[in-house]
Amino acid sequence: MRIGGCDAWLGVKLLGYAKRRRKARNPPESSETLPAEAPKNQHKPRIPCSEGFRCNRTRHERYGQSIMSEPSTPFSELAHRRRSNLRIDPERAIDDNLLDQLITTAATAPNHHRTYPWRFRIIRGDGRRGLGNALADHLANKPDPLTNKPDPLTNKPDPLTNKLDPLTNKLDPLTNKLDPLANKLDPDPALAQARVSKARSKYLRAPVMVVVASRAGEDEIATIENRDAVSAAIQTLLLAATEVGLASLWSTGAAAQSMEVAEFCGFDSTDTIIGLVYLGWPTAELEPALRAVPEVVRIDQA
Ligand SMILES: Cc1cc2nc3c(=O)[nH]c(=O)nc-3n(C[C@H](O)[C@H](O)[C@H](O)COP(=O)(O)O)c2cc1C
Repeated sequence: MRIGGCDAWLGVKLLGYAKRRRKARNPPESSETLPAEAPKNQHKPRIPCSEGFRCNRTRHERYGQSIMSEPSTPFSELAHRRRSNLRIDPERAIDDNLLDQLITTAATAPNHHRTYPWRFRIIRGDGRRGLGNALADHLANKPDPLTNKPDPLTNKPDPLTNKLDPLTNKLDPLTNKLDPLANKLDPDPALAQARVSKARSKYLRAPVMVVVASRAGEDEIATIENRDAVSAAIQTLLLAATEVGLASLWSTGAAAQSMEVAEFCGFDSTDTIIGLVYLGWPTAELEPALRAVPEVVRIDQA
């Protein structure tokens, strides 16, 4: 059955259960903190962010039809509230102890055979410039300036010359696959140059970047499982950051494929960068997103 379908009985049961739990955990607030005239359906986040974010919209307005039931626990509200948010004050530092706490929480993620495959790098201050320069070097090294030309007739990459340059047509040492970036040619060298320049200041948009890599396993399956575990750790990091009111954004792109970035971070050539996470105090909050209804199938028959 699709999760969006109407299972009224279960819905009522779950809602009642959640309400009872909520009541037990959060006894009614005193009249000092909750005005008596507050409308009944007004949503009041239980975990306010550091900026004192308050939302006056009803739960239905906030979450729309993206879910079967309303978020009914502090954790589910937190998960719905997490957004990719780059509206960050780059000048406002994050306390070191807080960063350590967030990473300790991230490292509670499940990991098969207890490999603890994650490797974290906290990049701050001028380190962010170094990280940007590493990405810029990577981008500058990629396209072959000789073949990186649009076809003068179609103004599109020439299908004949838009082939892998024998020099750049190398296996990516991190993934051991053809580097997808080397395999693409930027049709406009000026744009490519602008991309390189932009990369240099890219990471100055947040006070902290956390780069997270995954160690290779003993075999292919172990390596895949390690990556899965590191993804879980990154999501845990994002949720922990959201809980304390930090804005965050998980990014990948060219940086995650870059040997220059990996070297700057001191990762091994067998490690894989899974995410570069922007962290900082928000200058604006984003509304919870309307999310696609997940496909859920219940299988009861043998
Ligand atoms: C593996 C992964 C890689 C991502 N890479 C990028 C990225 O390079 N740039 C970016 O802006 N967002 C990136 N995102 C964030 C997604 O775009 C974002 O989660 C999605 O748009 C949904 O928005 P929300 O996080 O606010 O729910 C990435 C997310 C994941 C899980």
